Amino acid sequence: MNILEIINKKRLNKVLTYDELSFAFNGFLKGDVLDYQMSSLLMAIVINGMTLEETINLTDIFIKSGKIFDLSKISDVIVDKHSTGGVGDSTTLVVGPILAAMGIKMAKISGRGLGITGGTIDKLESIPNFNVNLSEREFKKNLKEVGFVDCSQTKDLVPLDKVVYALRSVTGTTESLPLIASSIMSKKIACGANIILIDIKVGSGALIKTKKDAQTLSKWMKKIGGNYNRKVVTIISDMNTPLSSSIGNRLEVEEAIQVLKGEKCRLYETSKEIASLLASLAKKITIEEAEEEVDNIIKSKKAYKKFIEFVEAQGGNLNKLKIDADIKIIRSDKSGTLTKIDAEKIGMLSLKLGAGKITKNDSIDPNAGIKLFKNIGDHINKNDILATLYTNKDIKLSSDDINCFEIN
Ligand code: URA
Repeated sequence: MNILEIINKKRLNKVLTYDELSFAFNGFLKGDVLDYQMSSLLMAIVINGMTLEETINLTDIFIKSGKIFDLSKISDVIVDKHSTGGVGDSTTLVVGPILAAMGIKMAKISGRGLGITGGTIDKLESIPNFNVNLSEREFKKNLKEVGFVDCSQTKDLVPLDKVVYALRSVTGTTESLPLIASSIMSKKIACGANIILIDIKVGSGALIKTKKDAQTLSKWMKKIGGNYNRKVVTIISDMNTPLSSSIGNRLEVEEAIQVLKGEKCRLYETSKEIASLLASLAKKITIEEAEEEVDNIIKSKKAYKKFIEFVEAQGGNLNKLKIDADIKIIRSDKSGTLTKIDAEKIGMLSLKLGAGKITKNDSIDPNAGIKLFKNIGDHINKNDILATLYTNKDIKLSSDDINCFEIN
């Protein structure tokens, strides 16, 4: 077997066996298969796809590249959630503390930004001193004591996803159902939760562009989860518009804190939907009962206090969370009604400002990002502020770069 044969087989749209997938992907992890060869194979997978069987096999290979945590001594019921990726999607930072404050354990492995979509690990790392690289012992201790823990892939935990994910992000190989399914489900299964909610984002700012693809992904993820005795539920939600009015790592942490303090906005609505669905399954209560508990836990500030406890348990220092960047203001050049805030263009703009990576060697600026000041449907006057941009880069933005709003 050699890597060229495997790349060529996928280029010709043939089905790869378990052994061939293992040879290519484990070879990449070991360093025997090189970046450019894996990029080529990934692109062939993006273009030609994989069968469900291949996707199941690839997920298994990802999982077996590391450990599977056994959390059964901590609780019979452990929940987890994952978004397939969007712009301004910081629901994890809201949902985890809500559920933990309700007494439900949430154990999670998150990812970094992928293409234009933001990643929870980058958001958490934007909090000074926050540690996303936990040992198994630390992971279990925090889950037991705090009730919510979130870490990155490590050399022990889905290490294969860590390296493939980083490559996909900068090679235009993010938008692929089998790669998304295997990446997400391997993390979810390795991490040990038994009730898993996947929020499948659909729209211009998401990796999934059509409802049909979202439905296929949902079916595949449920099937993969079932193979490992995990209950998988999915929701399909819109990502044509950014989910929050903050895009960029530190800005999103700040907005999540505002939501935990009681601010009502789109981010709160989606977080409430996810938290309520997981709470109803974990506690065997109705959705209505769960929604009431979620509202109460926010009102009582218990979820906010839990967020602080979670951050401190992973070493983070919220007192040092300051945005340090130059600010540029974007004003409207006409009056009318705001009909569109294009999530894809906002995502591209935030990358340019430094909030994400374009090449593997780029570093992320935690301060970079965008703050939006208007919502769809708002009346806009000429010269109103639509957004402020935060960057430490000396960049010239063209009118195309900031053409993210439609006003009619
Ligand atoms: N999140 C992941 O962890 N992997 C993907 O491929 C997409 C979103």
